[in-house]
Parts: sequence; C-alpha cells; structure tokens
Amino acid sequence: MSNAWLLVLGANSDIAVATARRFAKEGWNIYLASRDMDNLAKEAANLRLRYEVEARETFFDAIDFASHQAFYAALDPKPAGIIVAFGFLGDQPAAQKDFSIAKKIMESNYTGAVSILEVIAQDFEARRSGFIVGISSVAGDRGRASNYIYGSAKAGLSAYLGGLRHRLAKSSVHVMTVKPGFVATKMTAGMDLPKKLLASPQELAEAIYHGILASHNTIYTKKIWRLIMLIITHIPEKIFKKTNL
Ligand SMILES: NC(=O)c1ccc[n+]([C@@H]2O[C@H](COP(=O)([O-])OP(=O)(O)OC[C@H]3O[C@@H](n4cnc5c(N)ncnc54)[C@H](OP(=O)(O)O)[C@@H]3O)[C@@H](O)[C@H]2O)c1
Repeated sequence: MSNAWLLVLGANSDIAVATARRFAKEGWNIYLASRDMDNLAKEAANLRLRYEVEARETFFDAIDFASHQAFYAALDPKPAGIIVAFGFLGDQPAAQKDFSIAKKIMESNYTGAVSILEVIAQDFEARRSGFIVGISSVAGDRGRASNYIYGSAKAGLSAYLGGLRHRLAKSSVHVMTVKPGFVATKMTAGMDLPKKLLASPQELAEAIYHGILASHNTIYTKKIWRLIMLIITHIPEKIFKKTNL
C-alpha cells in the first residue's frame, strides 16, 4: 500500500525500528514519533535512502497526556495505520519502594497508550478505515513477583486493546494486540535469556506485518509463547505461589 502513512509511536524502540523498515520496504511512508529527535532524524534519513519513501520525525512523549490532541492534529496527511511501540520495563524492586517509578511504569505502558489511542480512534472511527497495532507483553497474562507492576500495566493495555477492537470492528478499523515473549532489544540487554525463546526485532516486524495483512487479533511472538502462557495461566495459585517463574 504505497503513499499511505504509518505512524510509529515510540519509534526509537528496536522493535519499532525493525517494523517501520518492514512497512517502508512495502512502500509505506513513515512518521517516526518519539522523544530522542537525533535518533529519529537519523532513522528517517535511512528510510528515505534505503526504501525511497517519505519519512518524517516528530516529537511525541507518551506520558505528556495534555499534548496528545495537538500532536495528532498536526499530522498532515493523517496516517492509515498506527503502531504503539513505546514502553518502559523499569525496575520492579525499585518500583516497590518508590511510587514515582511505579507510576512511570504504569503511565509509559498503559495510560499513555489510552490517552493517544482515544484521540486516534475517534479519527479512524469517523473515517471508517485504518489499523492499530498495540505492543503489549506476555507479562500481562499473569502477574509474577519479578515484574508485576510492568505486567499489570500490560494486562491493562491488552484488555484495553481488546475493548477497542470490539468497538472499532463496527467501523472497519482493525486492532491487533502483539504479545511478545523475550525480544533481543536494548530493553533486555544484559539479561540472561534462553536463546530458544528469544526473538529478534526483525522476527517481530515480520509477524506484525503479516499479522496485519491477515487481520489477526492477537499474536504471540514467538508462537510458542501462546502455549507457554496457556500453561502458566492454568497453574493453580496454590502451586504458582511456590514457583520462581
Ligand atoms: N524487549 C522485550 O523483550 C519485550 C517483550 C515484551 C514486550 N515488549 C514491549 O515491546 C515494546 C517495544 O520494546 P523494545 O524492547 O523494542 O523497547 P526499547 O528498544 O527498549 O525501546 C523503548 C522505546 O520506548 C520509547 N519510550 C519510552 N517511554 C516513552 C515515552 N514516554 N514517550 C515516547 N517514547 C517512549 C523510548 O524512546 P526514546 O528513545 O525516544 O526516549 C525507547 O526508545 C514495548 O512496549 C515493550 O514493553 C518488549
């Protein structure tokens, strides 16, 4: 679909960069929106050069809720598709002691997405077209001691995206929820993660691109995570409390 614009929110994320490139390869023009403008400008130049598409960088802060209406109003032309990629893992033990960290985790993964997506949903609903991709996480499928503040924000995001999908289906707007397991990005750098369960940002980009073509509702990446989370969510609490999962 050339000449159409894709808006990537949190465009400096490694998954977002790979996904923007995947869409640009198919001729999509790209709005790269995030906070680090130097990085965005470099990547926009790269997209223009490598894929001969239009690419523009624009400042977007997911937790500056008051700015979201004006941010979206300024986009001309309006995008045909949106990817919400911003997110913040944070430090769980630190967040247990300091609510400002917990708040940042919740706002960066949940409230910010609700704030901007409600603005975009109104426009897509009125135009009766478009797609929205929200990157949630398997961490939202069950709360665990090691990351339950991040996980609870992602659980909220998954439920929100499900509701938005239900609402917008009547207007021919498709909403896809992405639930990655482990992905090799700067978010997980330095973590000792099992290689077989670790996806690359490029694998995510392929899955997102094809998921949109196929109008999938929820995708797990890697696919094995659907089975893993099915098992994890069915472990009775009595047993789960004794595990170190
Ligand atoms: N990596 C994983 O294993 C994994 C697993 C499951 C889900 N996910 C989710 O996948 C998404 C992408 O993750 P990733 O690993 O690609 O991330 P990443 O490489 O660590 O990048 C995250 C990006 O989010 C942006 N961001 C954070 N707060 C923001 C805010 N307030 N406003 C605008 N941008 C903000 C940052 O942009 P700036 O640089 O511009 O500040 C940063 O570059 C996230 O939602 C994450 O939770 C990741």
